[in-house]
Amino acid sequence: MRVLSGIQPTGEKHLGNYVGAIRRWVAEQHEVDAFHPIVDLHAITVPQDPEELREATLDLAALLIASGLDPDVCTLFVQSHVPEHPRLSWVLECLTPYGELRRMPQFREKSAAQTSFSVGLMTYPVLQAADILLYDADVVPVGEDQRQHLELARDIAQRFNQRFGETFVVPEGTYGELGAKIMDLQSPETRMSTSLGTELGTVKVLDPPDTIRRKVRSAVTDSGRDVVRAEEKPGITNLIEIMAVATDETPEAVEARYASDGYGRFKEEVAEAVVELLDPIRLRYGELRGSPDRLAEILAQGAEKAHAIARETLARVHERVGFVTP
Ligand code: TRP
Repeated sequence: MRVLSGIQPTGEKHLGNYVGAIRRWVAEQHEVDAFHPIVDLHAITVPQDPEELREATLDLAALLIASGLDPDVCTLFVQSHVPEHPRLSWVLECLTPYGELRRMPQFREKSAAQTSFSVGLMTYPVLQAADILLYDADVVPVGEDQRQHLELARDIAQRFNQRFGETFVVPEGTYGELGAKIMDLQSPETRMSTSLGTELGTVKVLDPPDTIRRKVRSAVTDSGRDVVRAEEKPGITNLIEIMAVATDETPEAVEARYASDGYGRFKEEVAEAVVELLDPIRLRYGELRGSPDRLAEILAQGAEKAHAIARETLARVHERVGFVTP
């Protein structure tokens, strides 16, 4: 079974990204044939700083590997290194009605926030469909916010297959929110987010131990002192979920262990658990990010693996739509 999921090289990754996506990819890589493009082409659909994008792309590659994605086991690559992505996207754009893209909820939201925006912002989901269809991915694990994009990718695959004959695997989106939802430590009603959240409430994967301790200690907790989850206690509930995730236990087990401990002690222990979870990643990241040649070599190897498949898919597509073989 082939699984593909892309990740944007924008924003520093936080505990929620790690638990919700990265850690799952790491766990699943041995059971499936996993592809993970770092989608830098998607990152230029809104204005970007060139140096920042370059750094962020390498930072993310190092972070994913430091988190445990093994480039010898899965296929980790930079999207722009494989020229078939925009080439397939063009063909798919020509099969996608303009109105369908204009109505996509994410496009409407993002474009409404700006006086002027690029055509790329609108064709973004078609490029995403190309990412998926190029590799005959069976399953695409993503967040709930990607549901419309996945539906579009399925529609495009089906439309192409109907018109030109069986060519693409129709991918299945999975939206399972496995494990906890990690909320902002300062406003535990909202998801942890680098762009929308609070600085103090967002634990970055690469935060040094003292920063993690400071953030967890300052977490907003609710009145009361019992370490138990409750709807009216989103702060302590979040910390219990975080503890469960960090120590690989159920929230029930965490409650049983700390119920009578009081918030202060519990926070200290959560902080240490998160440090233990993230610090090995930070250290490995430091090593890898400090070896640019090694990192470049890994990404070249990933691009080569991806390219071998993408090249064949695109050739099949070109043949189907009527292009002359070069
Ligand atoms: N749009 C996705 C996001 O913002 C990123 C993405 C690009 C992606 N291509 C993909 C996800 C292909 C899954 C499959 O998170």
